[in-house]
Amino acid sequence: MRSNEDLIDDLNRRREEARQGGGPERLARQHEKGKLTARERIEILLDDGSFEELGMFVRHQNRDFGLENNRPYGDGVVTGYGKIDGRLVYVYSQDFTVFGGSLGQAHADKIVKIMTLALENGAPVIGLNDSGGARIQEGVVSLGGYADIFLQNTMASGVVPQISAILGPCAGGAVYSPAITDFVFMVRSSSYMFVTGPNVVKTVTQEDVSFEDLGGADTHASKSGVAHRAFNSEAECLLGIREVVSYLPLNCEEPAPIRPTNDPVDRADLELDTLVPSNPHKPYEMREVIERIVDDGHFFEIHTDFAPNIIVGFARMNGSSVGIVANNPSVLAGVLDIDSSVKGARFVRFCDAFNIPLVVFEDVPGFMPGTEQEWGGIIRNGAKLLYAFCEATVPKITIITRKAYGGAYDVMNSKHIRGDLNLAWPTAEIAVMGPKGAVEIIYRRQIEAADDPQAEEDRIIEEYKERFANPYVAAEYGYVDDVIEPSATRTRLIRGLEMLRNKVAKNPPRKHGNIPL
Ligand code: HXC
Repeated sequence: MRSNEDLIDDLNRRREEARQGGGPERLARQHEKGKLTARERIEILLDDGSFEELGMFVRHQNRDFGLENNRPYGDGVVTGYGKIDGRLVYVYSQDFTVFGGSLGQAHADKIVKIMTLALENGAPVIGLNDSGGARIQEGVVSLGGYADIFLQNTMASGVVPQISAILGPCAGGAVYSPAITDFVFMVRSSSYMFVTGPNVVKTVTQEDVSFEDLGGADTHASKSGVAHRAFNSEAECLLGIREVVSYLPLNCEEPAPIRPTNDPVDRADLELDTLVPSNPHKPYEMREVIERIVDDGHFFEIHTDFAPNIIVGFARMNGSSVGIVANNPSVLAGVLDIDSSVKGARFVRFCDAFNIPLVVFEDVPGFMPGTEQEWGGIIRNGAKLLYAFCEATVPKITIITRKAYGGAYDVMNSKHIRGDLNLAWPTAEIAVMGPKGAVEIIYRRQIEAADDPQAEEDRIIEEYKERFANPYVAAEYGYVDDVIEPSATRTRLIRGLEMLRNKVAKNPPRKHGNIPL
């Protein structure tokens, strides 16, 4: 009979075996590739000493292809819960040193188990992905395991925040779990996502493409929009997750957390008063506007490199989280095109699902014209942003800094689609279109008949500007609630958000709406 001490020694020996994953050689190989191990990643992600592991002794029950002789503890994924800034999160971290992090039944069950706990207890799920995909030896069972996870991702969507880090390969159908989650973060040079790899691409389309170009971090963060951020190292990526979590509520029933600040509510930034150029064709950097207004100048941008003509991200106003959506006049004049509409719509829906008030900075000349955009479906894609703003019931504030033209005026959280507080700077121009285009349409005959057509056009354009290229016509109708000094924006926004703190707005009861996907 073994003593209690022996039993505890035995427990510790088993634990040590589990911690070794695929063994020292494979752990060393992981480091040689510049990658951290599954457990090292969790250590960086979570508050010191807060991780509680579940399922450490889980093993697969498979008997095919010699797997019965290779049954490592943990089955290639470390799962459990812990804290970020003292707040509960659930985490899974795939261990590439065990069967290449590949997913079989036991591995999938472990992930589903913590997702179920996360849903029942209302806390975010963070997935650290590093996997060769479906475990080939387990066949259809591993495909079923993926589907179990996809279902759970979908059930959790809009209930608890879900964040995916891609820290190695992520191929085949395995990409669809991260794709359903709210945010996907990748690491340059060591992570990639694709439905089929370069070899299959070569066979099917005869294209020669590298892993990095096909599905690396920069590709997905700038071209496809699949990734929301690309980082230079795993540590930066994991710290990025900690940061994004700091803005979010634990679940859809809770308000976002408040982080007190010393940045004064009444801080007036006088630079803002002269920041918008008087020439309406001149660009300026909307990020600068945002940073001058939000707490401590700190803005956590999402989708930084994808569709940069719109800017989205999180910041705080007097300690409270806000989601910012801003046209960026320094890229394509801030025009709304397919990608920027989809980017904006997804972010608006995320904020609405998780009770994060929306602050919109608007300077938009309209929707992008052209065959490429029309054939690509700017109508149905632009409608996504419109739909998202219409259905959002969180507090919604708009600041029109300059242009609010045409359909884009309506879309960017106008009063008509339940903007709660719509403010304009004196530089705002709110009109059906820009002065030149408008005058050329409605005064064409008069201009053509004039002795000096150019002088006549210039004169009418000036008249038009005087009448329409300002915020006061909209203010007369009550479509903007006030025209404010730009330097007063921070104070006005904070007071507006306070005023809207207890807002209750509801949409009609229904199974779900039908956003034009
Ligand atoms: C079982 C796998 C595996 C897999 C890798 N391994 N992928 N075991 N099933 N899918 C094992 C290897 O046998 C090896 O074991 C160890 O993991 C490390 O793999 P290496 O190939 O040595 O590593 P590396 O050179 O870094 O290459 C990594 C890789 C490559 C690019 C991921 O392993 C690979 O191409 N794997 C197959 C990927 C794949 O086709 N998966 C299925 C996709 S379809 P040892 O014992 O030697 O250390 C899919 C469908 C999902 O996932 C459907 C959802 C709907």
